[in-house]
Amino acid sequence: MLGSVLTIWALALAASANGQITPPNALNLRITQNMTHTISPTLYLHFLSTPVKLLSIVGRYGYMWEDINHSGDGGLYAELLQNRALQGVIPNTGAALQGWQSINGAFLTVTAGTSGVSSALPNSLQVSIPKTAKGPIRFANTGYWGINVQAGWTYTGSLYVKSPGYCGSVTVALQSASGTIYDSVTLSNVKDTYQKLTFILSPTNSAPDHNNLFTVTVDGAAAAGQTLYFGMFSLFPPTFRGRENGLRMDLAQALFDTSPKLWRFPGGNNLEGQTWEQRWKWNETIGPLENRPGRVGDWGYPNTDGLGLMEYLDWIEDLEAVPILGVWAGVSIGNYSDLPDWPIVPQDQLQPYIDDVINEIHFITDPENTSEWAALRAEYGHPAPYNLTYIEVGNEDQFAPDSYQAYRWQMFVDGINASFPHLSLQFLATSPPSLPLDPPYLKIDFHQYSTPGWFINNSYMFDTYPRNGTQWFMGEYAVTGTETGCELGSPSCGRLLYPTLEGACAEAAFMTGMERNSDVVFASAYAPSLQNVNSYQWTPDIITFSARSVAKSVSYYNQQLFATNLGTHVLATIPEPSPSTAPLYWVASHHATNQLVFLKVVNTGSADLVGNLFFDFPVIGGFGTAQQLSAGLYPTPGVYNISNTLETPDVITPVASSFGIVDSSEFNYTFPQSSITVMTFAVDF
Ligand code: AHR
Repeated sequence: MLGSVLTIWALALAASANGQITPPNALNLRITQNMTHTISPTLYLHFLSTPVKLLSIVGRYGYMWEDINHSGDGGLYAELLQNRALQGVIPNTGAALQGWQSINGAFLTVTAGTSGVSSALPNSLQVSIPKTAKGPIRFANTGYWGINVQAGWTYTGSLYVKSPGYCGSVTVALQSASGTIYDSVTLSNVKDTYQKLTFILSPTNSAPDHNNLFTVTVDGAAAAGQTLYFGMFSLFPPTFRGRENGLRMDLAQALFDTSPKLWRFPGGNNLEGQTWEQRWKWNETIGPLENRPGRVGDWGYPNTDGLGLMEYLDWIEDLEAVPILGVWAGVSIGNYSDLPDWPIVPQDQLQPYIDDVINEIHFITDPENTSEWAALRAEYGHPAPYNLTYIEVGNEDQFAPDSYQAYRWQMFVDGINASFPHLSLQFLATSPPSLPLDPPYLKIDFHQYSTPGWFINNSYMFDTYPRNGTQWFMGEYAVTGTETGCELGSPSCGRLLYPTLEGACAEAAFMTGMERNSDVVFASAYAPSLQNVNSYQWTPDIITFSARSVAKSVSYYNQQLFATNLGTHVLATIPEPSPSTAPLYWVASHHATNQLVFLKVVNTGSADLVGNLFFDFPVIGGFGTAQQLSAGLYPTPGVYNISNTLETPDVITPVASSFGIVDSSEFNYTFPQSSITVMTFAVDF
């Protein structure tokens, strides 16, 4: 049997030797029981008698996260009210009123001219009631471009209010833009100093759409000529797993369903700030919301920091993932056209920032009851230490390599290591891979936003990566455009608005290469993750959403297929993918515990291609299953720039099937043009 198989695949290779596989040629593919590459010492699974190449200690696939496109505020963070505490805005400007609007003649302004809710939140919403007011005077928060009102949901709210001359009541409500009240509560006894009033809203009817408001109403006759001040509003719907100050259920569930095993945060550019002072500061993102000043984010809108360090770490625990904690490494982001002017902290001023990271790591990892940091963490609700192994020093320091090489990398790594010798922390560098560092890096984060062609052509790049103890982290990647040289340009030169089938197939081809070489590819993170369709800075993104709806892209489904069908080690195939087997790309893996073999095959071409599959082992049960992304019945054959959007969210979704295998060692399968197929086989080893 083996001899005839060898002959057949030799013929197949000959048929495709001068280029790619084209019909009627078929790919003859033998899946062996053998591991592929030399085992990286750190990934060696010692308790097995046969050495196996692990896919990764931490799991393979995950996300890079930062607040961009209102992915956090107005996205994953479930808070419904936009600009709830008037953070990061300039008082007495129109822009400071983002999210707020007057109804019936109240005059609104943002002021710092009265004492705020807290020293961290100095701004107040000043509401002046006209002297001639009669009847209800109202103002509203528009939410993050709408509010999702659902019957049966409990909305938990609070606000701070004071007035020097009015001691009546205010009424809060969820209502439609056209005035339908879904629920309301009256809060009495406004006083002359700030007090926090809490309330619950429980609509019994769902709104037909998300065009809804949160309103505050004052009796005009009673309050005529008076001024009321408000601060730190909040309104939460039910959250993912019911966590207080938690995450929006549908978005969290969508991310959860892709089984991410790593979460790189808090950026990305949004770690860095446009100035040193505006950097992401971990200690200003913890504890009571009243203590969090928020900041001017890097993506053009204020961040509340309600989604702070502990909320991220709790979420990572819910995911059963590992954090890759990005730490600010002494560079803020200036103008990309003027890189030499980026503000870099000089060597003799860097130590306080390293001390700050050391405090952060104490806060995250100190065992219970052992330090003031552990006590603070317990006070804020998490007595046990969080898991932390991976520290990423900076972000994209290829833009500031000289100081990174000269002192920043070394001072952070040595300084942190000296404080935590017991933690065996691992550090990721963000400088160019070819730049020597002292101490040498063991893990390097590399980012690639590019064309389908780049990802397809580079799907073999890790086959020749040196097995020298270093590992690659694909810490941001996505197909972003169709034209070389314009990958991050405008839609007019090919920039994608949404992930496309063509792009997802290219990403998948590349991912087969990462998975096949998982001894040297530490992990990967698609980026960016979420896009609020009403306000965004970056396309494409893996999930697009509005206040009420979610569209999962074809890249989302690709990530999900890859991450949820993952073996414990890679199986060698004959042949391995190479330019002569294009446009088919594949990886096979074996799950030793579940006794499953996964075969992921990507066809990036424009013709259906047949695979003659041969197994070196019996397939149990006489059948296999497949999940597939393809153009399917899309009405225009050969068009692959098709996307899922909020309007048409289900153009491309995975299609499941099963197929019989008469001869356990051989069967044929057709891989459609532009498709991603994940096959699963039960085995007895
Ligand atoms: O993912 C968007 C941005 O791309 C990230 O913030 C940055 O790291 C990269 O340049």
